[in-house]
Amino acid sequence: MEKLGIAITGSGSAVPKNTLTNEAMTQLVETSDEWIATRTGIRQRRLALPSESLSMLATTAASQAIASAGIKATDLDLILLATSTPDDLFGTACQIQAQLGATKAVAFDLTAACSGFVFGLVTASQYIKTGVYQNVLLIGADILSRWVDWEDRRTCVLFGDGAGAVVLQGNQSDRLLGFSLKSDGTQNHYLNLAYAPSAQELLSDVNITKGHYQPITMNGKEVYRFAVQKVPEIIDKALFQANLTVDQIDWLILHQANQRIIDSVAQRLNIPENKVISNLANYGNTSAASIPLALDEAVRQGKIKQNDIIATSGFGAGLTWGAAIFQWGR
Ligand code: UT7
Repeated sequence: MEKLGIAITGSGSAVPKNTLTNEAMTQLVETSDEWIATRTGIRQRRLALPSESLSMLATTAASQAIASAGIKATDLDLILLATSTPDDLFGTACQIQAQLGATKAVAFDLTAACSGFVFGLVTASQYIKTGVYQNVLLIGADILSRWVDWEDRRTCVLFGDGAGAVVLQGNQSDRLLGFSLKSDGTQNHYLNLAYAPSAQELLSDVNITKGHYQPITMNGKEVYRFAVQKVPEIIDKALFQANLTVDQIDWLILHQANQRIIDSVAQRLNIPENKVISNLANYGNTSAASIPLALDEAVRQGKIKQNDIIATSGFGAGLTWGAAIFQWGR
């Protein structure tokens, strides 16, 4: 029988070894452990060494996900890499394909900032639901430490580096129960990693731009306001599509940006604290990696079990936001 449903059958994650505590952060900018911990919930973050690349972190996470799904890299039909910080602007997914030896897989990058994992989950599932592919590897990975302004205390304390991955496979019953995705480019200016063009005269009548990417800029207050309003709404929408009620959710895994956002969303949805997964105290905001990193940790800790229903939501630059409701395992 054709398998036009999807199941998420394995997970993996990887973080750099190097830890930067809030205390150490006080040597870089005027801040304190108390400010960072009470405003964000973050205690420390991992930072990639110059010798650690995005593809290395992503490949480690991916290998674990493939092993836990019980398949081989050569079984993969598609590799999707959700990232905003590729090793190569042309894309990094193909390097991961080579490192994994996933000879059959087509591979490409997908950019939706901190919503990248949820957008990737829905994108991957479409290829399976249409019968095109059977085995898809989805990785969320970011090294934002390469792109923050280490003199800007409003942003540099927030971010960390990491990677998480899942394997999606064709399944007779569909375990992706509902989803909703949104974008609003009119609010794009609230969170950017923008190209700064500078004009260059190539010939007397031919001008081009040659520039560089500027560090991350964010209007924290506006992004906070956006998140606490839009995330509960979109989870509600995805739940409606899944024909489920809030009390049927076993776990809430939000993009790990700020503990106050996580608490506020859980409160608005009436989800008790013991169902909320949070690990940002240890890793900070790892962008596209944060959801699969938290998911993988919870699976390995034995919290998330076969058939548990998970509500997840990513939100961030674009602005973009999305939610997915899925049931763990085959
Ligand atoms: O992943 C993408 C999604 N991103 C997000 O979800 C981020 C959403 N926004 C936030 O999480 C919060 O807005 C922040 C954590 C970024 C900031 O928290 P806040 O409570 O909104 O603080 P604020 O920006 O209003 O700043 C309050 C004060 C300011 O001082 P004044 O103007 O009141 O004197 C800041 O200059 O805190 C100051 N401040 C700091 N102080 C110590 C800002 N950053 C720091 C810092 N250490 N690191």
